[in-house]
Amino acid sequence: MPCRLVVLVSGAGTNLQALLDAAADPAYGAEVVAVGADRDGIEGLARAERAGVPTFVHRLRDHATREEWDAALAASVASYAPDVVVLAGFMKLVGEELLTRFPHRVLNTHPALCPAFPGTSGPADALAYGVKVTGATLFVVDAGVDTGPIVAQTVVPVEDDDDVASLHERIKVAERRMLVDSVGAIARDGLTITDRKVRIGP
Ligand code: GRF
Repeated sequence: MPCRLVVLVSGAGTNLQALLDAAADPAYGAEVVAVGADRDGIEGLARAERAGVPTFVHRLRDHATREEWDAALAASVASYAPDVVVLAGFMKLVGEELLTRFPHRVLNTHPALCPAFPGTSGPADALAYGVKVTGATLFVVDAGVDTGPIVAQTVVPVEDDDDVASLHERIKVAERRMLVDSVGAIARDGLTITDRKVRIGP
């Protein structure tokens, strides 16, 4: 049985697309069973629809409290019985309900080398700091902001003439490869966490 993935997105969905493309090969070991979002009208949802994958949307502003939004999101995710939940450019902090229902099974990708530059402007912050290398981090989501145990990291150079867009685009190329490789390996071989140390393997 392939590993069941629910992917949450907020934007262009190129990381989602990379997973959809990889999952087209049965040897990959995972399938995207649903895609959720926190907003309508995004390319990420259109990508899911074109691939014939069911979608759901929960907008924060349609809920009285953040807890209610989190509960609705968690219920929709759970209805697809995922083995792993992938936050792929999902621009909201998920809450306790989702993390409690799927302990150690919610992964997020962040466009910086954690623990450097957490939050929503990783590429801009790295550029402003003047680092010579940056990259992307896949981690197991915990209650903090980009603080969870690290599954994988990938490094890219910062070029002298980079702006935020060119740097983020270079990061995203490496990020998609890291995400596809890691999620496939987790799907096929599993993942264990000891303290903060993550190991992929049986
Ligand atoms: C990725 O770099 C992700 O890490 C960041 O936003 C970007 C989303 O890209 N949070 P996409 O929507 O997968 O194209």
